[in-house]
Amino acid sequence: MTRPSPTALLGHGLRVLIPLSLALTAYLYLFPLFGSCAFPLPPLHSAAAASNTANSRRAAFVETAKVHLHTSVGAAANSTAFVPSRPIAPFRLLALGDPQLEGDTSVPTEYLGVFPHLKSLVRHVMFQSEHSSLRQRVRQTFHDLVDVLLEDTFDALESLRKRLDHVGNDFYLAHIYRTVHWWARPTHVSVLGDLVGSQWIDDTEFYHRAGRYWNRVFRGTERVPDDLAAYPADEYDLTGYLGGGPFNESTTWSRRLINVAGNHDIGYAGDVNDERAGRFESAFGKVNYELRFELPVTDAALVETVFDADRKSDRLVPELRIVVLNDMNLDTPAVSTKLQDETYAFINNVINTAAAVEFKGHFTLILTHIPLYKPEGVCVDDPFFDFHEHDGSLKEQNQLSTAASKGFLEGILGMSGNADAAGRGRGRRGIILNGHDHEGCDTWHYINQTAEDLEWEVKRWRQANAAGIVGRDELPGVREVTVRSMMGGFGGNAGLLSVWFDETAWEWHAEYATCPLGTQHMWWFVHILDLIVVIGVVLFVVGTVLAALGVNVDGAVEQSVVRLCSPRKKVAKASTPEKGPI
Ligand SMILES: *[C@@H]1O[C@H](CO)[C@@H](O)[C@H](O)[C@H]1NC(C)=O
Repeated sequence: MTRPSPTALLGHGLRVLIPLSLALTAYLYLFPLFGSCAFPLPPLHSAAAASNTANSRRAAFVETAKVHLHTSVGAAANSTAFVPSRPIAPFRLLALGDPQLEGDTSVPTEYLGVFPHLKSLVRHVMFQSEHSSLRQRVRQTFHDLVDVLLEDTFDALESLRKRLDHVGNDFYLAHIYRTVHWWARPTHVSVLGDLVGSQWIDDTEFYHRAGRYWNRVFRGTERVPDDLAAYPADEYDLTGYLGGGPFNESTTWSRRLINVAGNHDIGYAGDVNDERAGRFESAFGKVNYELRFELPVTDAALVETVFDADRKSDRLVPELRIVVLNDMNLDTPAVSTKLQDETYAFINNVINTAAAVEFKGHFTLILTHIPLYKPEGVCVDDPFFDFHEHDGSLKEQNQLSTAASKGFLEGILGMSGNADAAGRGRGRRGIILNGHDHEGCDTWHYINQTAEDLEWEVKRWRQANAAGIVGRDELPGVREVTVRSMMGGFGGNAGLLSVWFDETAWEWHAEYATCPLGTQHMWWFVHILDLIVVIGVVLFVVGTVLAALGVNVDGAVEQSVVRLCSPRKKVAKASTPEKGPI
């Protein structure tokens, strides 16, 4: 009986590995399909509340799948534009939380040097160091020798692993962005702060990470141009229009990143200074600005009903206002009162230039980093404040203070516990998106106008819905979504926010869904497996071709393997037949 040749063995292995690697690669590269990811759809009947049931998720997925089918099949047939079987949200935001790109701060050779003990060892041996005696010189030499072997070598290997890890992590994050963007088709994209992993890094490292952010993780994107990132004003220019056609919108905004400043980018109030804020703005865009998108009203009968045509109307031309807010220095004490004043002034201007609460048709989307105040137990992060010992400034915070949170609820959104206030205290329609708490959290803030103590309360979104609190007249409120981090440790999450306009009620509605990839281990495993398979296929082809050419490659491989690996086994094998069972 002849043993199978190495080429044949390789062939057998590949027969198992190739289907496995194809299946896993397909899964990895089409993960939004397997996870049924899609931007939530507006409900079929405008009166129906936005729902996030299994049925509505399936419908949204099917609609997205149809677009892809149409684009791939339709492109070949050169057919007309895609007409969806049901309306699609004109504003679809791909929301990403806390990528936190790591860098040299976690690479030992960067802060310790490369083989530092080897250098000092050489100095001792070359008599370039001071020693009281030869004994001391020898002692130090051996000391360093031990450190070279047991410390430097380890640090060097760890540094290599870290660097590989950083590159892999960049591509892992890029994979999430690229794949979800391709499948779900957002109209806008936002990264909700903590773009890089530390506020303490020097400028070189900061710009290096910014380079990785733009050229690797979010390749093909650009920042929001400074001249479009507007300061709130009474007379403003529209940033653009929504609803250029279902899934056919201009791709300009879908390729722009609306970056939010986080504590790891510019620091907490005790860290934020001109330098840190300045370099963030030069690399990622402004920290405070607004964007205003109009949804044109196409129905002529409806145009007659808006305030511009009918001064008795409370309907405004539908507009989505995006407020990008640096909330890192809202709370006190801040080291730079100048920068804090800028943030306060910005918020005041946002409030002063907002439509009066009595009007309908505008929607405010607030993008910021630190979440609003919530009592212990609502989300994973509980309220937490820490202050610097040297100057008492704010060192760290999990959430905003209650006062700062009120600035969002009663200021920007104009809600009130007083039912007799303008607009019955119901405020402006909107939603708040942020990051910071890597675990993510979906909540509803509300105030009970009929209660004795007028106090802002908060519940998990699901609980608030189950309790019938959402949308009640005497309970004005707003949804706050803390987007789960896109880091591998949190399952590589991507958030999908849809905002659409209900012409019957003349109100905007929003709904949120998530699309997680899974941890980074899967990403690594699939790519390593693919690499092994590719090498295997190349070896197999080479082996087969050489065999066909008459080269006894299998014999040669076998012999050299035997010679290299187990010269002793060869002897043992030679003697086996005689000692075999009889
Ligand atoms: C609001 O306050 C009233 C009066 O105290 C109370 O009866 C009602 O249950 C409260 N509603 C909620 C949702 O807490």
